[in-house]
Amino acid sequence: MAYPFQITSVEQYKEYYKKSIESPELFWDEIARNFHWKKKWETVLEWNFTEPRVRWFEGAKLNITENCIDRHLETAAQRTAIIWEPNDPSEAVRLITYDDLHKNVCTAARMLKNLGVNKGDRVCIYMGMVPELVFTVLACARIGAIHSVIFGGFSAQSIADRIQDAQATFFITCDGAFRGEKTIPLKSIADEALTLTDSVKKVIVFRRTNSQIEMKAGRDVWWHEAMNEAEQQLSAEGSISFPAEEMDAEDPLFILYTSGSTGKPKGVVHTCGGYMVWTTFTFVNVFQYNPGDIHFCTADIGWITGHSYIVYGPLCAGATVLMFEGIPTWPDAGRLWDIVQKHRVNILYTAPTAIRSLMTFGTSPFQEKDLSSLKVLGSVGEPINEEAWHWFSEHAGNNQCPLADTWWQTETGGIMISNLAGITPSRPAWATLPLPGVQPVLVDENGNEVITPDENGYLKGNLCIKAPWPGILRTTWGDHERCRKNYFATYKNLYFTGDGAWKDAEGNYRITGRVDDVLNVSGHRIGTAEVENAINQHPAIVESAVVGFPHDIKGQGIYAFVVREPQSVSSRPDEDATRNEIVQTVARIIGPIAKPDKIQFVSGLPKTRSGKIMRRILRKIAEGDTSNLGDTTTLLDPSVVDEIKKGRL
Ligand code: PRX
Repeated sequence: MAYPFQITSVEQYKEYYKKSIESPELFWDEIARNFHWKKKWETVLEWNFTEPRVRWFEGAKLNITENCIDRHLETAAQRTAIIWEPNDPSEAVRLITYDDLHKNVCTAARMLKNLGVNKGDRVCIYMGMVPELVFTVLACARIGAIHSVIFGGFSAQSIADRIQDAQATFFITCDGAFRGEKTIPLKSIADEALTLTDSVKKVIVFRRTNSQIEMKAGRDVWWHEAMNEAEQQLSAEGSISFPAEEMDAEDPLFILYTSGSTGKPKGVVHTCGGYMVWTTFTFVNVFQYNPGDIHFCTADIGWITGHSYIVYGPLCAGATVLMFEGIPTWPDAGRLWDIVQKHRVNILYTAPTAIRSLMTFGTSPFQEKDLSSLKVLGSVGEPINEEAWHWFSEHAGNNQCPLADTWWQTETGGIMISNLAGITPSRPAWATLPLPGVQPVLVDENGNEVITPDENGYLKGNLCIKAPWPGILRTTWGDHERCRKNYFATYKNLYFTGDGAWKDAEGNYRITGRVDDVLNVSGHRIGTAEVENAINQHPAIVESAVVGFPHDIKGQGIYAFVVREPQSVSSRPDEDATRNEIVQTVARIIGPIAKPDKIQFVSGLPKTRSGKIMRRILRKIAEGDTSNLGDTTTLLDPSVVDEIKKGRL
């Protein structure tokens, strides 16, 4: 047994689960003892879901980076912490030991301090997948600054919204990022964002692509120059370490913005103590990690999966993680398998959308690839269909590797429902059992627990969680009421996930997807309201309604029903040109990930007499299921439905 809290049998899982529900305080007290705390907690858990108020390990002091780095130095300083695989396979791999990580994070922490970053300050990070991104994230955590990583695919406007909401005073970026054959001009996008908001005082720029960029005097500094200076200072002081700020267990660690069914993305806040315990506990148990294993998570650190299973969980466990700068299909569709072979990867954690896109290339990319090092496969981000599940198991795992279908969310901090690889049984398309500490419940529209199985023996309902686990979000940045309304007000005393699910008689869960107005496009969460607001910014548009439709590769595609200004309909007969402009508008306002796949022009939207758009009808039409649209008599103008049906793309 590699870790004191590693579950090694089904019986032990059951025993842990039972204890975690019956005596959560005792259970988590014992787990948390395996971490490095500067001061122990006074209480393990205090909570109510009405405010909501959740406090784990109150009174404890720690710094998460001492758990991710310092405590491994005595026994594993020369162990590789990060294997970095560049976008271009002919470029050199970088191997970063725990010792190197320590040195880099301490120097970066000193650099941030030199530039005036203090505990509690918000630092936005908009970088490509380079090791310096991990150094930056951990340097923030080292000095107690709150990081907010922004995915490289977001537009200037989206970045500005996040900076503004967090009132970030520091911004860290790269000149550019390599992704397949593209170079993303991060710095110039950042420059545009920074003209839209004024809280940022300093910008640090890491040189990666050697792109032509502008450096604004007095505001922008080069990473390599500032790091050099910090390194010299540390060495002049005869120190190789930079002190880790003492943080309260409940001090914020980071903010990560995510889409909801209304308004702009909200900043989910995770705190230091509980998040650390939860990500490490789930990492070790779900993937059955053993020291020395090479863990490859293909997610971007701009999303929660990268935060929890590239950075914090694995590094706290002293693991070796593989970080990949590029994309799975470049220079060809065998890239992932090349990486697995080259680095003898043991655990491969990826997304159904990546699997489905690789499936379209057939099996030739596997030829002559030695994937025998693989022991465990993982899936995350959206429901995995059975076909993709079997394909991944067969071709990547040679039908020998357990596949963990991990269900969780930005708000949950870490994995909530999943089989434990090779320990508890897997089942295609089912996330299976809750982790210790997780108490799911399925409720109907009125919040009553679903207790009557359907004809197949399944309970079906909206997925809620009854009690807090250590990684639950604590608030949404600057707006606690929004947190309450979004997650804790739909059903009394329950955390509502926004997902629908089934449960079988053995207690396994199958997640069926969002039941709210949130889309999941290629594993990216996008609010329909956000896309509609962006479309409506186009001057020729009166209004729009956006829904999801099944998409073979992306899981869900974006279908937009759009009403144009009457004048523009006659003066601009070229519909495709307008469509193109709408797509560009969405890319500009949100980012390329939110571009609609289909845009249907309509003369009106199906609305109730009170003006509410009947999305149910639009969803059915977009899905191609027009035989039974339900009751349309309450519509203000039922005739629009026929027109929309006829014009379906
Ligand atoms: O709908 C669920 C889906 O992704 C949503 C969470 O998205 P996000 O916060 O961006 O986090 C993604 C990575 C954790 C959920 O509400 N989802 C995530 N994992 C699964 C899933 N749906 C089905 N099965 C999964 N394994």
